[in-house]
Amino acid sequence: MNRLSKLIWAGEKPVLLEAKHLTVYYDAVLALDDISLQVKEGEIVALIGPNGAGKSTTLKAICGLLTPHAGEILFQGENVNNLQPYQLVSKGLCLVPEGRRVFTTMTVLENLEMGAYIRKDKTKTVEELEKVFHLFPRLKERQKQKAGTLSSGEQQMLAIGRALMMKPKLLLLDEPSIGLSPNFIEDVFEKLKEINKTGTTILLVEQNARIALDYADRAYVFDIGEIILEGPTELLIKDNRIQKTYLGG
Ligand SMILES: Nc1ncnc2c1ncn2[C@@H]1O[C@H](COP(=O)(O)OP(=O)(O)O)[C@@H](O)[C@H]1O
Ligand SMILES: [Mg+2]
Repeated sequence: MNRLSKLIWAGEKPVLLEAKHLTVYYDAVLALDDISLQVKEGEIVALIGPNGAGKSTTLKAICGLLTPHAGEILFQGENVNNLQPYQLVSKGLCLVPEGRRVFTTMTVLENLEMGAYIRKDKTKTVEELEKVFHLFPRLKERQKQKAGTLSSGEQQMLAIGRALMMKPKLLLLDEPSIGLSPNFIEDVFEKLKEINKTGTTILLVEQNARIALDYADRAYVFDIGEIILEGPTELLIKDNRIQKTYLGG
């Protein structure tokens, strides 16, 4: 091994999630056509691309909400194709669904406790709650308030906090910026960066390509059920096609 390849090898992080040749149909409609992707430990990876391209379908297949017609999903090297969402959660794979979907008539605290409900190890719940409140002081201040009375930005924070209560190794998020004003979008992504720095790997779907490329390490560009481009975000940002199609350049 020469010196350069040794350096690359040493910097190579283990693969946490691998999707290989996924194909998904909705009835006769082909929604995902043989896509493959990888997420390494410690990364933030973004799936970008236009509406209807198959980004959410990919996330749903990964977290067990739908069964792919072909292909394989490996989490920490184990085939998880046939596991139910709750089984994946206990393995450390947790989804923050699109549109937040907090329990609006329950309090902030009750919502967070729901997140921990699925976990076997209850003793850690208090510790996790403290971490979530440390990350989101607004949620701590408002813990007794009904979730439905929070602003959309705060509800997104709550949805993320609830997922963190499950102690994810891999946090999946579908369109975290949707319906948020620009200031709140930045806030949410800053929090995601903080969550990532404390050891949680992140895979997110985002129609807002600009914010996704600013914050992610790598991205996959989807179009009509296929991945048409992939790479480190610092290279994708400079790519002519990306500039023209997604960044208004
Ligand atoms: N539940 C569903 N039933 C039928 N078709 C669907 C369903 N969900 C998504 N699709 C179709 O699958 C394709 C991919 O959708 P989706 O994964 O939601 O795209 P994206 O998240 O990139 O906007 C689209 O053509 C969409 O209309
Ligand atoms: Mg979607």
